[in-house]
Amino acid sequence: MKNVVVGVTGGIACYKVADLVSKLKKHDINVDVIMTESACEFVNPLTFRTLSKNPVVTSTFAVPEAWKVGHISLAQKADVMLIAPATANVIGKVANGIADDMLTTTIMACKAKIVFAPAMNVNMYENPILQENIEKLKRLGYMFVEPGAGLLACGDVGKGRMAEPAEIEAFVLDLLYGEYQDGSADKVEKDLAGKRFLVTAGPTVEDIDPVRYISNRSSGKMGFAIAEAARARGAEVTLVCGPVKLTCSEDIRRIDVKTTKDMLAACESVFDDIDVVVKAAAPADFYVVNQSEHKMKKVPGQDNVTIELAKNPDVIATLGKKKGDRILVGFAAETRDLEKYAREKIVSKNLDMIVANDVSAPGAGFNHDTNIITVFKAVDSSKTVYDKMSKVQAADVILDNVVEIIKNR
Ligand SMILES: Cc1cc2nc3c(=O)[nH]c(=O)nc-3n(C[C@H](O)[C@H](O)[C@H](O)COP(=O)(O)O)c2cc1C
Repeated sequence: MKNVVVGVTGGIACYKVADLVSKLKKHDINVDVIMTESACEFVNPLTFRTLSKNPVVTSTFAVPEAWKVGHISLAQKADVMLIAPATANVIGKVANGIADDMLTTTIMACKAKIVFAPAMNVNMYENPILQENIEKLKRLGYMFVEPGAGLLACGDVGKGRMAEPAEIEAFVLDLLYGEYQDGSADKVEKDLAGKRFLVTAGPTVEDIDPVRYISNRSSGKMGFAIAEAARARGAEVTLVCGPVKLTCSEDIRRIDVKTTKDMLAACESVFDDIDVVVKAAAPADFYVVNQSEHKMKKVPGQDNVTIELAKNPDVIATLGKKKGDRILVGFAAETRDLEKYAREKIVSKNLDMIVANDVSAPGAGFNHDTNIITVFKAVDSSKTVYDKMSKVQAADVILDNVVEIIKNR
């Protein structure tokens, strides 16, 4: 089992790191959290103790008994050490060799890869002292997940917002398991630079009445992972998603939709300017014909109610009909006859590639953080079966296949 030590420092983005810790735990990673005194002002250590399922260290002199010499024990244990959010203060301290609390002492004693995810007000971030400290740390081999730009918690607009938890998660996973073992985000090959991606994600929702609806179990995680990975590899990404509880990086153009017809309309509105479509959404195949304007009431003596369903337009097949020289990638989530359905869909929907998964297999499909995929390509009728992996890793495997199609054209 891999070990990640997360250092949480005193910035408002602390609350986002709770989500990040929970994301890392889902990959079967052991997470130990060290909080600075200031961080404890923002989030109660109990939150991180509950999410990490480990004691949380908040003081150099009150470490759990199990650890002989606390700072050394955690420093040796870490495969990756992540400081998120990283305040201007902690960056300054580490850059100048200060070790006056448990976190900075552990960083000083740690020989593993150390990653900072800075978060602060734009003026603090642009301060030349901070920038000089970052440059110094980079020269010394420390890594940084760049903050994003936008409206900051303090009300200012500019660079300083901590990178999204999904991006930091992907960065840490790459360091633990990926190809970019030596590196910083800059090491991610920008092999999709200049490509314009349309990614769809999540379910769609079809109303029965104002309070009831039909939908499906899609979480949107696979589509969001693909959108983030394509962005990291240099693509310009538009993400059309149904109702999901996920966030994405600022520089992904996100269009939220509700119904399958809305999803198709949103895709068609951007389709002219797209090179690659990855349809990871699970749009509802049917809509309710006799949708009720008001909440349906129980009628005494009436035990059965009929909901009449009619076919929705097929989003990917509709796009497939006018695909031109775009690359179209579809998904086949099946519970039986995977290969048969996948190969049929490649033809009927005019796809270049289909990513098939048996959603009934343990650790695959809806709402899991892992997936087991098989990739079928139209050009050579090839079939590649992959082992179980995280959806973040699966996203890169899918994009590797897209890059291969682009190169062989
Ligand atoms: C409400 C509030 C929000 C803050 N947000 C940040 C922040 O986002 N980034 C930052 O560098 N400092 C921020 N600070 C200042 C730090 O908490 C302060 O520099 C502290 O000494 C950091 O200690 P630490 O690095 O040991 O956690 C904030 C302070 C307050 C009161």
